[in-house]
Amino acid sequence: MDKEKIVELLNQDLEGEHAAIIQYLTHAYAMGEGEMACEIEAIAREEMRHLDWLAETTVELDGAPSLKRGEMRMGGEAVAEWMGNNVLQEEDGINQYKEHIKAIDNPKIKRLLKRILSDEESHHADFQHFVDKAKKEGAKDLRGSRRDEVTQILDWGIEHEYTVILQYLLHSYLTPNDEVKEEMQDQAINEMQHIGWLAEEMVGGGGNPRIEHTKVDRSTKTADMLRADIKVEKEVAEAYDRAAKKMKDPDLKKLLLRIRDHEIYHTEVFTDLLREETD
Ligand SMILES: [Fe+2]
Ligand SMILES: [Fe+2]
Ligand SMILES: [Fe+2]
Repeated sequence: MDKEKIVELLNQDLEGEHAAIIQYLTHAYAMGEGEMACEIEAIAREEMRHLDWLAETTVELDGAPSLKRGEMRMGGEAVAEWMGNNVLQEEDGINQYKEHIKAIDNPKIKRLLKRILSDEESHHADFQHFVDKAKKEGAKDLRGSRRDEVTQILDWGIEHEYTVILQYLLHSYLTPNDEVKEEMQDQAINEMQHIGWLAEEMVGGGGNPRIEHTKVDRSTKTADMLRADIKVEKEVAEAYDRAAKKMKDPDLKKLLLRIRDHEIYHTEVFTDLLREETD
């Protein structure tokens, strides 16, 4: 099988991981704090590692990681139904990985896909167990229908965070500069914290987080990536600052200011890296 074909298959797998991550995080956020929500978040984190490995492998094969998100299963009224959807999502993943393991002859990639497959089989069993657990424990959808200026700001924040997570991950995969790569990965993880905080705030306040993103910068030169990243960080640091000033709830104000400070830090880190890159 030629490299391009392998990249195509790996990108299909990557899109499936992307869909699973957002589907599972949506469920975990909607359930609020609790043991099952934590376990679902842990599964989503394993899917993130898969996404990372798949993306790195496509780059090793001179391909570009796909940013598309595969099909999600977001239906279902009760938590038990969501868990049933997650079982189906894992089944699709398992079937696809099995097909790709059969089709790909490169031993290193085969080994990687088998490694991922074993995780998916374990997730599949976990979600089957969660179907019963949700029924027994009466796990609830805690989301509400609140819509006002606060939920608008939280929605904006979530959309921004999701966008930069994808952007920094993509940049980390594409840059040949190891220091930039490491910082991009680090800051992407920090942005994942932000999205979690904002989504939890949203659910806690009676809203319904909508996890969508806007346009991701696809620069291929490191300096261009950094310029794009600095621009977005400067804009959002200011936007978080303005938003914090509008908040009456002191905890929410504090949270937005904390995120703002992180964004200022990101701007400074990226600015230093750009200086080194263009020296
Ligand atoms: Fe999985
Ligand atoms: Fe952020
Ligand atoms: Fe940031």
